[in-house]
Amino acid sequence: MEIKNVSVIGAGTMGSGIAQVTAQAGYNVTMEDIGEELLERGLASIDKSLGRGVKKGSISEQDKASIMSRISTAIGLSSAKDADLVIEAVLEELELKLDIFKELDSICREHTILASNTSALPISAMAAATKRQPRVIGIHFMNPAPVMKGVELIRGRHTSHETFQTCKAFIESLGKEPCEAVDYAGFIVSRILDAMMNEAFYCVMDGNKPEQVDKAMRLCCNFPMGPLELCDLVGADITLHGLETVHKEFGDRLHPAPLLVSMVRSGDLGRKTGQGFYDYRKQA
Ligand code: CAA
Repeated sequence: MEIKNVSVIGAGTMGSGIAQVTAQAGYNVTMEDIGEELLERGLASIDKSLGRGVKKGSISEQDKASIMSRISTAIGLSSAKDADLVIEAVLEELELKLDIFKELDSICREHTILASNTSALPISAMAAATKRQPRVIGIHFMNPAPVMKGVELIRGRHTSHETFQTCKAFIESLGKEPCEAVDYAGFIVSRILDAMMNEAFYCVMDGNKPEQVDKAMRLCCNFPMGPLELCDLVGADITLHGLETVHKEFGDRLHPAPLLVSMVRSGDLGRKTGQGFYDYRKQA
């Protein structure tokens, strides 16, 4: 099946990043969300990200303009009717995703593939909310989407071979590498990363300084950034949600650290709120 038009549902960090890399690969993209302000913020973030490319000379101003021209925006889900592939990237709330999949199923054409960018929630549950289980799949981009090479590709219980192959080719056409993962909570990346980050939260609770935890993991393990910096990048709320999802499925070995729960309660979510393990307000 040939994919020409892609709809991305959600204009947040992941949705806008996915819209960007998809438009960069030449697809027509519609980015959809529930309000004009959210769409404008998404477009501004794509503009900023492409601007980095212009500054360092990897793309021209003209390339940037033509990429931006391939991205249109819409409020609500109705413009997904023209899509060959829909990628949902809304909040990590299963009930919300189930409602969206149900509605997309009624709006979209028969051949359209519905994908979720969830980092931990069950693809098979989203598929079961539709009448097109063979054409539902997980396509999980990493943060920051324009930079990270790997994309998890997750089959639901009834995902067809054709859907899998089409999405694999789609990911490759973006210049990225599909990593095949099984549909259990957290797939591969969140399951492993969240467990590691949780241990880092306990290290801080046990008296280690955040800077020392991150420094140790950067310098002793060659990580590009430490686990607490990564939590601030991804968002403490997203990390807590991932951990809770994995914990629900795999039990006590992944009980979220009280420190993370307390940070989320006080709104210290990381870069997006200006305060996480580190203070970003002074950099603004
Ligand atoms: N858009 C476009 N380009 C970006 C970017 C963005 N948002 N952020 C960084 N870049 C580019 C920079 O322009 C730079 O490009 P060049 O090398 O061509 O100059 C490159 O990425 C490196 O950026 P910086 O020099 O600014 O910073 P850095 O070297 O510290 O790298 C990083 C930043 C890429 C984020 C790196 O620290 C890294 O790879 N960290 C790990 C990220 C990670 O593990 N992500 C997965 C998170 S888990 C997840 O996403 C799953 C989930 O659902 C929870």
